[in-house]
Amino acid sequence: MDFFELVQSRRSLRKFSERRVESHTVEKILEAALTAPSSRSSRSTHFLVIENKDLIRHMSYMRDYGSAFMAEAPVVVLVMGDKRATDLWVDNAAISATFVQLAAEAAGLGSCWVHVDGREHMKGHPEMGTAESYLRTFLPIPEEFGVECAIAMGYSPYESPRPRPEQDNSGKVVWLK
Ligand SMILES: Cc1cc2nc3c(=O)[nH]c(=O)nc-3n(C[C@H](O)[C@H](O)[C@H](O)COP(=O)(O)O)c2cc1C
Repeated sequence: MDFFELVQSRRSLRKFSERRVESHTVEKILEAALTAPSSRSSRSTHFLVIENKDLIRHMSYMRDYGSAFMAEAPVVVLVMGDKRATDLWVDNAAISATFVQLAAEAAGLGSCWVHVDGREHMKGHPEMGTAESYLRTFLPIPEEFGVECAIAMGYSPYESPRPRPEQDNSGKVVWLK
């Protein structure tokens, strides 16, 4: 599959088959993600790979909406940025996370981004803290790192990928010639 077919076939996957994801496949995906561009080559992004089922289940409670599906993912990659390396760590981490998703697709896996940065643990209840502060209670996240997102990944239980819905892209691209 060439790159252009790959980006067309990628869809967010929120259900996963029982099939185990080999560690060398995850290593290959993260090796690709570590080539991502970064501001002034600050290379501020770091990854935490979680394969432990209990930890992944705990992670799925990080928000009270949009994260529950993670519980069934065989692998979750937490995408973090070293805030000391650059003020653009969020931008760098978002690019790295995108590389993870595209590399996962190329390796035959599906994935879904689950947002962390700036999200409340319980919507409308700031006193309950953030998704990030919740994750910090049981994951070894260095103090100087911010957490951008988690990428849940695994093999798809579906025969074929979900078709991409028709998109109205009118006005999205402006050419000046
Ligand atoms: C910045 C960002 C945050 C996202 N956060 C979540 C999330 O918390 N939970 C979730 O289920 N999907 C999340 N997604 C996935 C989007 O919902 C998904 O990409 C979008 O609906 C388009 O569908 P597609 O990826 O299949 O093309 C996020 C995606 C991005 C880029």
